[in-house]
Amino acid sequence: MGWPDGVAGPTGPDPRDHGAVPTTSSPVTVRPGRDADLDAVVDLERVCLGRDAWGEALVAPGLAGDLPTVSYAVAVAADDVVGHAVLSAVGDVAELQRIGVAPAWRRRGVAGLLLAAVVEHAGAAGADRLLLEVREDNGPALAFYARHGFEELARRRRYYADGATAVVMQRGLGGAGRMAP
Ligand SMILES: CC(C)(COP(=O)(O)OP(=O)(O)OC[C@H]1O[C@@H](n2cnc3c(N)ncnc32)[C@H](O)[C@@H]1OP(=O)(O)O)[C@@H](O)C(=O)NCCC(=O)NCCS
Repeated sequence: MGWPDGVAGPTGPDPRDHGAVPTTSSPVTVRPGRDADLDAVVDLERVCLGRDAWGEALVAPGLAGDLPTVSYAVAVAADDVVGHAVLSAVGDVAELQRIGVAPAWRRRGVAGLLLAAVVEHAGAAGADRLLLEVREDNGPALAFYARHGFEELARRRRYYADGATAVVMQRGLGGAGRMAP
């Protein structure tokens, strides 16, 4: 069962963005992650998730397909990996384990594209709901998930290494890809 291929996305980044040095407008596509994406995904983990980042030892087996329930998707612009998502699907429950977008590419719908691919893949794998955990102090991610129809299910105190609380969120997969109004 594969990820949907060739999902076209936004162009960018905007030349005015801090740190971005674009030479052309590039459409973003989403494809399955593969071994050759290891360095790029580990970099995204570090840049996007800081102290909670996964290192090479955790990412490599997932990209290699050695973890049967785990799938990686990457967002690519002009051959650069600019975002990634990790899904674990077991039975009727799927878990979005990671989603991250390079800072220069944020607020352009890249995470939305990755999530749409995750939702489609999870549904095809037989899941009927998608769960995730997010730090309660991660405002951008909470806003992103609320925009995409996730609702709070529970809170887990001291879930993260620094003592932060996790918000557990879920959404059904019946309306795959639909945004909240
Ligand atoms: C959360 C994250 C993945 C969003 O990626 P993104 O590509 O910028 O998201 P999108 O462009 O698809 O955003 C879609 C919508 O989500 C909401 N959103 C996303 N980022 C937001 C922010 N910083 N502030 C407020 N709302 C935000 C908005 O409603 C946005 O729509 P809009 O731009 O039209 O207002 C990105 O900020 C990121 O990589 N953060 C660091 C890693 C992380 O925290 N991952 C989640 C861990 S659980």
